[in-house]
Amino acid sequence: MTDKRFHLAWFMNFTPDEWRAPFGQGGYPWDGQFYIEMAQTLERACFDYIMIEDKLMVPETFGGDRKFSLANGMMAPKHDPAPLAVAMGMATRNLGVVATMSTMAYPPFMLARLSSTIDSLTKGRFGWNVVTSAEDLAAQNFGMDVLPPREQRYAMADEYMDVVGQLFDSWDADAVVLDRENGVYADSTKVRSIDFEGEFFKVRGPLNTVPSPQKRPVYVQAGASPRGRDFAAQHADSIVSVANGIDGMKAFRDDIRARAEKIGRNPDDIKVLFCVTPTLGETEEDARAKYERGTTADHFVNDVLASISAITEIDFSQYDLDKPLPEKLVTNGESGTLDKFQQWGSGKTLRELAAAEGGGLVSSMELIGTPAQVADKMGEAMAEVGGDGFLITTPVLRVSRHYLVEIADGLVPELQRRGLVRTEYKHQLLRDNLKEF
Ligand SMILES: Cc1cc2nc3c(=O)[nH]c(=O)nc-3n(C[C@H](O)[C@H](O)[C@H](O)COP(=O)(O)O)c2cc1C
Repeated sequence: MTDKRFHLAWFMNFTPDEWRAPFGQGGYPWDGQFYIEMAQTLERACFDYIMIEDKLMVPETFGGDRKFSLANGMMAPKHDPAPLAVAMGMATRNLGVVATMSTMAYPPFMLARLSSTIDSLTKGRFGWNVVTSAEDLAAQNFGMDVLPPREQRYAMADEYMDVVGQLFDSWDADAVVLDRENGVYADSTKVRSIDFEGEFFKVRGPLNTVPSPQKRPVYVQAGASPRGRDFAAQHADSIVSVANGIDGMKAFRDDIRARAEKIGRNPDDIKVLFCVTPTLGETEEDARAKYERGTTADHFVNDVLASISAITEIDFSQYDLDKPLPEKLVTNGESGTLDKFQQWGSGKTLRELAAAEGGGLVSSMELIGTPAQVADKMGEAMAEVGGDGFLITTPVLRVSRHYLVEIADGLVPELQRRGLVRTEYKHQLLRDNLKEF
């Protein structure tokens, strides 16, 4: 019998929870407890990993001001994902924890050291979402006036991966000998300098951490442009994507697999997960009513437009909500999400775009219904696409306890009953859980 299982991961950020909703945490999650409980709930549901999104600025594109972002708690405040990944990882046993860190922001040595440390603390369950940053506002926090062009960001990122890879390899797996008799902690013949000197980075090495259980973290990536896809196909263990419908999902995955094959990688080593934002109800009618309520709420359209403005640095407040966009937009920032969002040529108004495909920027297909209906749809989609799973979130990543429980205790058991997702963890390392099927 063929294994039809697919992977589940969860996408969130360290921002206020769904603070306007009655079942939120209350809007002040800064001690991390709400997110620790979230990780424990996802582990109960046997998710592969929880991924923490990150940005390095307070957005001020929407309306040309940071007022909207701060008043609505939209992408700001946003706390550092790395300590939260540690807290979540140490409060769970099997769930993978993935933190976003930008190759523009961290010196490679610091990133390798931090990742290695977290991988040891979580006993081999750490992942790094490799991003190159997408905003001038972020670049301006790191000594630049504008974000480097995409080509250069990826050229730097390629070299960056080389440096950190060499740093992770600068200790042999058996370098720690702990030989009490001869008084040797680590064998110096098994630890090497890397003496890296490239176009962008110069790093002597070796790393000063012991080899972590996975040696290097799981690499997660979301490149969407042709250059970004090549980068992802070369480096990623898991790729996260927002696609337009089942056809778009299939086309994206096929493309990634072809790119991987071309450079000699086994495409099965890359798990492509598609963002979705299911709306669940006791009945289909109930779910549809909930969806309507959610996507027509006053703040919904503005929150979505503020998010897309922040990550593309195009001010969407300048366009008429009830007309199609006047021209095809381009960005040096998150191009894939922009292309998916603007659905150029569809004739949809901006208001309609904000609610398309199940809501928001991060929904690859519409999933509205009872847990059983949505589980069926997810199974059918994966059968058509060929794999490898879903990255579940909400339209602007805000989460209430209610939503979390609907997924973990409503949807996941239905998926499990259909033999579509795992019912127990078989491996200790995140990378092994990803490779299991
Ligand atoms: C699901 C998903 C999650 C992403 N998370 C982040 C993030 O946390 N931080 C970030 O700066 N970019 C994030 N990105 C943007 C990607 O890293 C990438 O820059 C974007 O998809 C555009 O692709 P391109 O760089 O090839 O143009 C995310 C994209 C997607 C689709």
